[in-house]
Amino acid sequence: MLRVPVLALSVAAVLMRAPGLRASSCPPGCECSEAALTVKCLSKELREVPAGVPGYTRNLFITGNSIRRVGPESFRGLENVSTLSLSNNRIAEVQSQAFSPLRSLRSLDLSHNELALIHPEALSVPGGSLRELNLSRALYNHSAVVDLATALRWGGLGGLLGLDLSSNRLVLLPPGMFAHLPGLRRLLLANNSLVALHNGTFAGPERLEKLDLTLNAFRTFREEGLQELERPAAVRLLLAGNPYACSCELEDFAAWLNSSRARVDDSELLTCASPPALRDASVRALGGRSLACHDGPVGEGTALALQTSYAFLGVVLGFVGVVFLFVLYLNRRGIKKWIVDTRDACRDVLEGYHYRYEMDSDPRLGHVSTSGDL
Ligand SMILES: *[C@@H]1O[C@H](CO)[C@@H](O)[C@H](O)[C@H]1NC(C)=O
Ligand SMILES: *[C@@H]1O[C@H](CO)[C@@H](O)[C@H](O)[C@H]1NC(C)=O
Ligand SMILES: *[C@@H]1O[C@H](CO)[C@@H](O)[C@H](O)[C@H]1NC(C)=O
Ligand SMILES: *[C@@H]1O[C@H](CO)[C@@H](O)[C@H](O)[C@H]1NC(C)=O
Ligand SMILES: *[C@@H]1O[C@H](CO)[C@@H](O)[C@H](O)[C@H]1NC(C)=O
Ligand SMILES: *[C@@H]1O[C@H](CO)[C@@H](O)[C@H](O)[C@H]1NC(C)=O
Repeated sequence: MLRVPVLALSVAAVLMRAPGLRASSCPPGCECSEAALTVKCLSKELREVPAGVPGYTRNLFITGNSIRRVGPESFRGLENVSTLSLSNNRIAEVQSQAFSPLRSLRSLDLSHNELALIHPEALSVPGGSLRELNLSRALYNHSAVVDLATALRWGGLGGLLGLDLSSNRLVLLPPGMFAHLPGLRRLLLANNSLVALHNGTFAGPERLEKLDLTLNAFRTFREEGLQELERPAAVRLLLAGNPYACSCELEDFAAWLNSSRARVDDSELLTCASPPALRDASVRALGGRSLACHDGPVGEGTALALQTSYAFLGVVLGFVGVVFLFVLYLNRRGIKKWIVDTRDACRDVLEGYHYRYEMDSDPRLGHVSTSGDL
């Protein structure tokens, strides 16, 4: 009778000792390779960063789990980790000094998370060792970018070389957001919703080599924006995939694109999204050509613009015609009724007239006129 509880107790004892035993080797849900200095905890529905990751670890991958928060205790004792990926974890909160124990950290991947709370000192890594920071699709919504800007400022990230902020639905970049990243070489801002660059956006990373602004919402770049694009002296730009509006407002940008000042690597791929007549036309081919912005001799550009406006007028007239026909069609019963009514009314009037005529004239003549059928 007593054997069952005793067995249960001993099983419980083994279970309770197990985490302690494994902690010195490899945390539950993880695979550890001492030879490769690598620990992987992939898609194990972990709710927090596992304790007991071995101290030899250089490469730590904790991806595809359900970790909501990282804090100062999360990575304690992991002084040798240089590559940390926390991608795809639904992390919402990064607390102060969360990565401070990682004295050798060079690459931090926080992509595919839901960051909403980013403490101002969330990204500080001692000694400025961090080189690569991946925040692609990492922000919960646009509001988080303000927190992020503060964290970039106070993170001591002078050594950062690469920052990936793509796919974050960013609408605008807080002024001076990159001002404290003087060493930055690559800045990826692709697939956001940016519409304009304001004075000072790229002040700070003067040695930027690559700036990716593809797949945003730029309709053009005005003078202020062009100045920002020229600010880093040696930057190569990627600007395709934006809905460029090929009208007057594009004039400065088109001229800039064709000038020696521009270093746009994908300039052949820039296309107009509007007006309809210029849809998918190459922005580059428009070049410095006037976009019908100024009065003057009817040049090629003006002729093109004129054609465009005629085409547009044609479309509008065609549309009006179609609407008119459609209204007629919808009213066909009413119209038919109206025609019948009118015809009846006319007939009544004519008959009345006829009748009066008959009354007024000689009855014999009237007889002749009705039977003669002239
Ligand atoms: C980190 O690596 C160094 C050198 O490889 C080693 O001496 C040290 O013990 C490691 N740290 C830990 C916590 O294991
Ligand atoms: C950042 O992470 C995303 C997705 O996890 C990946 O596709 C992208 O290549 C990474 N960026 C860099 C610069 O490595
Ligand atoms: C972003 O998310 C936070 C937290 O849910 C919310 O308070 C805020 O209003 C959201 N901001 C936007 C612009 O949707
Ligand atoms: C762009 O970002 C959205 C989320 O913001 C994502 O769903 C989509 O896959 C991204 N597209 C590309 C081409 O990366
Ligand atoms: C941009 O800002 C700087 C200082 O912040 C100022 O000196 C400069 O005149 C501004 N440029 C434009 C075009 O507004
Ligand atoms: C581009 O600029 C050059 C002068 O720098 C000019 O000769 C050329 O016609 C321009 N190209 C277009 C397509 O406007």
